[in-house]
Amino acid sequence: MCGIVGAIAQRDVSGILLDGLKRLEYRGYDSAGIAILNGDRRLERVRVCGKVRELTDLPAVRSLHGGIGIAHTRWATHGEPSVNNAHPHVCSDIALVHNGIIENHEQLRRSQRTAGYQFQSETDTEVIVNQIHRHAREGGDLLTAVQRTLAELNGAYAIGVMSASEPKRLVAARSGSPLVIGIGRGEHFIASDILALLPVTRRFIILEDGDVADVSSSGVVIYDRNGRKTTRPIVTSELSAEATDKGGYRHYMLKEIYAQPVAVAETLRDRTGDGRVLDESFGAGICALLDRTRAVQIVACGTSYHAGLVARCWLETMARVPCSVEYASEYRHRRPLVPPGTLLVVISQSGETLDTLAALRGAQGRDYVGSLAICNVDGSSLTREADHVLLTRAGPEIGVASTKAFTTQLVVLLLLAIMLGRRQGLAAADERALVEHLSGLPDAIRRALELNDSLAELARRFVGKQHALYLGRGPMLPVAMEGALKLKEISYIHAEAYPAGELKHGPLALVDDTMPVVAVAPNDDLLEKLKSNLHEVRARGGELYVFKDAACNVEPAQGMHAVDIAPIEGCLAPIVYTVPLQLLAYHVAILKGADVDQPRNLAKSVTVE
Ligand code: M6R
Repeated sequence: MCGIVGAIAQRDVSGILLDGLKRLEYRGYDSAGIAILNGDRRLERVRVCGKVRELTDLPAVRSLHGGIGIAHTRWATHGEPSVNNAHPHVCSDIALVHNGIIENHEQLRRSQRTAGYQFQSETDTEVIVNQIHRHAREGGDLLTAVQRTLAELNGAYAIGVMSASEPKRLVAARSGSPLVIGIGRGEHFIASDILALLPVTRRFIILEDGDVADVSSSGVVIYDRNGRKTTRPIVTSELSAEATDKGGYRHYMLKEIYAQPVAVAETLRDRTGDGRVLDESFGAGICALLDRTRAVQIVACGTSYHAGLVARCWLETMARVPCSVEYASEYRHRRPLVPPGTLLVVISQSGETLDTLAALRGAQGRDYVGSLAICNVDGSSLTREADHVLLTRAGPEIGVASTKAFTTQLVVLLLLAIMLGRRQGLAAADERALVEHLSGLPDAIRRALELNDSLAELARRFVGKQHALYLGRGPMLPVAMEGALKLKEISYIHAEAYPAGELKHGPLALVDDTMPVVAVAPNDDLLEKLKSNLHEVRARGGELYVFKDAACNVEPAQGMHAVDIAPIEGCLAPIVYTVPLQLLAYHVAILKGADVDQPRNLAKSVTVE
């Protein structure tokens, strides 16, 4: 979380920094700041408590001009959102931006106090800039001072540092938090993410953990964690700068919901043919891994965790292999048993979620047959550290609420279940049928999107509610969980999902005429049982919203609202039924006037534990 951007050039970089901040705002948006060295070496800094737009609107920012600068958009960890806690932090003539958490900041703070430093903020970051200043005062240049400081830090960081005493140098470093260097012509940039820099370059160096980069307008010198000069490859991004705009939609989330037919088609592209999932598209390494796989452990967070829960049902039914699904934040602190032949699957949109990364790192040395990352961001830490990778190809997802990442994760997981299923005896005819159904998935999602207007209408009924229950059974339980997560994170209505059969074991006590109960009810083996659960809700006066197969009869009743979804093959129902739940949450949030793309307290890329 937190976005950092920096630039060093022969031209004014203020516009590049502010534009970069806007593009990084999904990483955090409670305060923002910028520091620039103007022509006569004066360090100027402006910060706000609020969003990037509030920063760019300030007259003081419009008068900033210079060839070197750093900027930051914050997601508070240590210290509330405030101007004083906003980055860049400054000590004398040195300015610094930071993403991550410094675990030994209290110890450093004590020693700096003793040395006479005074603190302006409550952040863990301020100790870094003070420590750099301390080392710079002892002699040596900015690069050396930064290297000495980093050797004393525990925790995670990506930093950008500049000094008015060395106006032709920007120092950047990473350990545990992402950082890229953008390569321009006679100018260079740093950022938390390539998306920030697409308007100025497509060529990037992705720093490795422990790297320190000495960046000038004419070159970049990289030192590894042992202080040795090293080189890192330059990668070229295929993304266009437009990939990160709203494309005419009111919100990123809506754009991303509507992008799902194309994102799913793209994720399927070249991965099936002749009624099969193509081994070639997975690569020999993954195929060999699947040959040895007898069980699967899935580890992820949030929406990606829900994708894992759906996949468990598919892996059990199609591949008949045992599968467990764990929250990464829990898994990483346990000592899980790894039965022989277990494949570790880590799922993440961003590939930078710290808990998921830590889980992957912690699994190394355990007895897995290998690790497989399912990820949307090529080049992210997860894709670089897992043994094998399957990309979801959803394109940049910027809205904090994950939408197209989820449905494309499900597509990849379904392909994986089929691939593993074939090795465990899934009949060729069954595989052919599944692949055939998958080819119709983009159209099925398009049909689900046509429900938009009726869902906007239905959303009105949720606006005054404080709570909502979501019910599902089997693979639709995680879909209900995902629907509830969408509603709570963007509309702030408390929503929980339950297995429909569990209702009478407790949550039914909550049901009265103020409690909306959303049920996901495709035409599957569990439909009749689910209907009984719906009767239990109706009998207590609960208001039902049933997302059901249009061809299935669910007896109309007072207080029951049906959302008819075009008939769909059972295995695809989790993907298709997710879409109207996303739209419902979106419209409720809009009616409540909430900030859909940047919900309070959250950030897109969760790089802290
Ligand atoms: O990038 P990741 O998939 O690892 O992110 C995991 C969660 O932080 C993420 O899915 C989060 O729950 C979303 N805000 C949900 O919409």
